[in-house]
Amino acid sequence: MTNEQYYELIKPYEDVSRVMLTKLEILNHSIYNRDNGKPIHHIQNRIKMKKSIEDKLERLEMTDSVMNAKDHLMDIAGIRVICFFPEEIYDLVDCLKRQADLIVIKEKDYIKTPKQSGYRSFHIVFGVPIHCLDAMEYFPVEIQFRTLSMDFWASMEHRICYKKEYDNKDEVSREMQQYAMALELIESRFAARLHEER
Ligand code: GTP
Ligand code: MG
Repeated sequence: MTNEQYYELIKPYEDVSRVMLTKLEILNHSIYNRDNGKPIHHIQNRIKMKKSIEDKLERLEMTDSVMNAKDHLMDIAGIRVICFFPEEIYDLVDCLKRQADLIVIKEKDYIKTPKQSGYRSFHIVFGVPIHCLDAMEYFPVEIQFRTLSMDFWASMEHRICYKKEYDNKDEVSREMQQYAMALELIESRFAARLHEER
């Protein structure tokens, strides 16, 4: 893939990313009343770098053509939404699913079913329509919804474990699982306190 092809490829993904960011901002200030506070703590977004696209297509044993990237990569546009509590994540996802212009391409609930590593997060890929001249095409945006505690764990685990080989791999991985469970417990205690207050 040449640099020119890459910049041409990512244009519509930048557009759909902006559309989804606006939708999320609107939900953030409209979904709850003033007493309950806003559901979103912060949002991060990124467009996949050229090198990451090429590396991923290589992992998938495909040539790094623009067509393969469009057909097989669902995370060229990526948004991470950090909420306070899991219930706010489900509220936001429900609101987005009710929006008639969006389609759901793929969904993985690692909150209900955490990964073996201990990773928790709600992943969903929305198809967002782009209208140009006389044509309409859906482009995918991957949104990872996490609570602050899920994001804390994922960021730490990524920093500690990513691309590293430990001699005591099993021990490190057990430790990570324990921290994930401990954080889940703390988060549920915070939630219990919040509900007590209301
Ligand atoms: P890829 O997107 O190709 O990695 O595979 P996939 O489509 O099966 O995606 P998956 O649902 O496993 O989510 C991939 C993304 O979730 C990664 O890019 C990370 O951001 C995050 N993730 C998944 N598992 C872990 C984990 O064990 N630890 C951390 N820190 N992040 C994870
Ligand atoms: Mg992915």
